[in-house]
Amino acid sequence: MNRNSEQEQSFQIETTASMEQLRHRSRLVEMFEKSPLPMDERLFNIGMYTRSSILVKFLLMSDVYKRIKNIPGQLIEFGTWWGHNLILLENLRAIHEPFNKQRVIVGFDTFDGYTSLSAKDKECHVWSEKSYNTGVDYVSYLRELIEVHEGSNVLGHVKGRHRLVVGNVEQTAPQYFVEHPESIVAFAYFDMALYAPTKAALQAIKPHLVSGSVLLLDELTWPESPGEAIAFKEVFARDEVCIEKCELYPSKAIVTVR
Ligand SMILES: C[S@@+](CC[C@H](N)C(=O)[O-])C[C@H]1O[C@@H](n2cnc3c(N)ncnc32)[C@H](O)[C@@H]1O
Repeated sequence: MNRNSEQEQSFQIETTASMEQLRHRSRLVEMFEKSPLPMDERLFNIGMYTRSSILVKFLLMSDVYKRIKNIPGQLIEFGTWWGHNLILLENLRAIHEPFNKQRVIVGFDTFDGYTSLSAKDKECHVWSEKSYNTGVDYVSYLRELIEVHEGSNVLGHVKGRHRLVVGNVEQTAPQYFVEHPESIVAFAYFDMALYAPTKAALQAIKPHLVSGSVLLLDELTWPESPGEAIAFKEVFARDEVCIEKCELYPSKAIVTVR
C-alpha cells in the first residue's frame, strides 16, 4: 500500500539518525525495491534488509513476551500505526506458546494519526495533527494480514480473537472495557506519547491488570514527550509497580505490576 501525498507531507518519523545514516537507509530502500531476489525469497530472507535499529524491536518484543508467557490475558497495543507489533505479537505467540489460542491481541489507534495536544504535552513535529495517518481504510488490510499470519501458524485453523479498535483512545479504551468486563490484561504497550490518550488508556486497563502484568512505555524518559510520564505517574503509585529501563532499547521502559 502506498502512502498518499497528504500522508507523505504530514508524516515525519521519530529519529535521531544522522544525515549519513539517513543516506544509507535510503540506499537500503532502493536496494530492497530493486533486489535481484524474487519477492517470495526477499520475504523469506527479510533479515538481509532489516536494520539493527529495527531488529532490536524484534528482540525487545521477544524478551517482553517471555516475561508474560505465564500470565493469562490479553496483549494490547495503544497506538498501533501500521500494526507491526501486533503481527510480531501474533508470531511470538506462535513461537512461545503455539497451543495457546486464547490470547486476544488488541490494537487501538485512530488510524487517522494524531489529533491534538494537551497543555501537558510539548509541541513536536512527530505528533503534528494527522502524522502517522494510515487512513482508516487500512484497517481491513491489517485485519486480513493478521489473519494470514495466524493462518500460517500452528493451529491456524483455530481462529484467535484479535481485535482492532478504531478511534480516539480517550473514548475507545474506557468503552472497550465496558464491553469486555471479563478482560485480564497480561501486556500493554503504550506508544502514543501524549498525556490525554495515555492517561485514559492507563486508567482503563488498571482494574484489569494482575500481579506480573507488564506495561511497555515507549517514551517514559524522552524529553520531547513529558505527557507520557506525567500520565503514568498520575495513575500508578511507586509501590504498585517495578520499573526497569529496557536493556537493549534505552528510551523504552518495562513496568511490571507488583
Ligand atoms: C508512534 S506511532 C505508533 C508506532 C507503533 N507502536 C509501532 O511501533 O510501529 C503513534 C500512534 O498513536 C496513534 N494515536 C495518537 N493519538 C491517539 C489517540 N488519541 N487515540 C488513538 N490513537 C492515537 C497514532 O495514530 C499513531 O499511529
